[in-house]
Amino acid sequence: MKILAIETSCDDTGVAILEARGRRASTGFKVLSNIVSSQQIHANYGGVFPIMAKREHQRNLVPVLEEALGESKLLIINDQVSIINEKLKVLKKILEKESTLFESVKNFLETHEKPAVDYIAVTHGPGLEPCLHVGVNFAKALSYFWNIPVIPVNHIEAHIAVNFLPKINGNSKSEILNPKTNFPAVALVVSGGHTQLILVKKIGDYKIIGETRDDAAGECFDKAARILGLGYPGGPIISKIASQIKESSIILPRPMMHSRDYGFSFSGLKTAVLYKVRDEHASPVVRTTGLSKKFIGEMCFAVQDAICDVLIKKTLDAAKDYKAKTIIVGGGVSANNELRKQFTKKTKGENLNVIFPEKSLSTDNGLMVAVAGYFNRTLRRGSGQAKKIAWQKLSVNANLRVGT
Ligand code: KG4
Ligand code: ZN
Repeated sequence: MKILAIETSCDDTGVAILEARGRRASTGFKVLSNIVSSQQIHANYGGVFPIMAKREHQRNLVPVLEEALGESKLLIINDQVSIINEKLKVLKKILEKESTLFESVKNFLETHEKPAVDYIAVTHGPGLEPCLHVGVNFAKALSYFWNIPVIPVNHIEAHIAVNFLPKINGNSKSEILNPKTNFPAVALVVSGGHTQLILVKKIGDYKIIGETRDDAAGECFDKAARILGLGYPGGPIISKIASQIKESSIILPRPMMHSRDYGFSFSGLKTAVLYKVRDEHASPVVRTTGLSKKFIGEMCFAVQDAICDVLIKKTLDAAKDYKAKTIIVGGGVSANNELRKQFTKKTKGENLNVIFPEKSLSTDNGLMVAVAGYFNRTLRRGSGQAKKIAWQKLSVNANLRVGT
């Protein structure tokens, strides 16, 4: 069974093709391709602008699809494909709000044969609404034209599910299900838009047990980087600078670290960074020369340290309370080296596995959507999430929540 997956919920355009061999995942997955085009345009603005991101997705989707099919050896060129008027009208209607995409989809469908894929999985929420619509309408157009059923995927579930994929070593891309996944598990999903703790009783059975009241952890990295004038996305830049120093004289708050629930709050941390930078600017020297390298380094270290402390403390508390056997970490912030190091260190000697995706699979990509799609397609569950459906039933929900 082959699943073609599409991800456009934020600023990464992703298309992946996953092959599941046999009827059960335990018989093995083979990753045929996983192509991501990360939009550079937002770097100049320190954050993602949904309308610009939508435009970029429209430009990127067909080239990314073509590359993914090519790498999977599923791209069959045939410039004799003709589209009857009636079909063209439906395609135009599906993509009526994405006129640029319509032109490139039409061109692609006229010059390529239907690929040998069984399902089209697509992120339908949560995320930036205009961006989600591009991916969903693209999936609808392909589903309609090629007559392939679609599987709607929750983006948060995808960040969790990618951990069920075994590690991909070098060229050998096929393996069985990640053997470290024991249930119940507690998942920490930390991205630019979300910070949630989720109880995972088994694959497909999710319950949110805590989340941020304001900013997400990734957003805090991004905003701190913007305040320091470091560019976007902030997480990787802050992490790189922080890794070059060993300690910091700057002390930042750890909001809600000792609250008795599993909630988070990161907006106060961002404000604390802002005030410290303002204080620093009060010095006439700094006003003329700008922030010193030492100050920026120490601030990056302090921000990362505060975020890691809070995330790890809350997750370990939840794991203990729910008697979890595994901690699953996912989302863009899970690429953070220090977070990985500290989680591993603080769970050493305990009867608790901590699993992270490969770094390239922490941030948004199509493969995570394919894995979640695979499980959505096959598992019976009580979580009320959709299985395969006809394209007409597919809809966007920018505020979609995972589980019950
Ligand atoms: O999951 P993701 O790719 O997109 C959303 O769903 O939001 O996460 C993006 C977020 C950004 O806020 C980015 O700064 C953060 O993940 N991020 C990191 C690192 N790499 C990406 N944060 C900390 N350390 C990193 N190495
Ligand atoms: Zn994400």
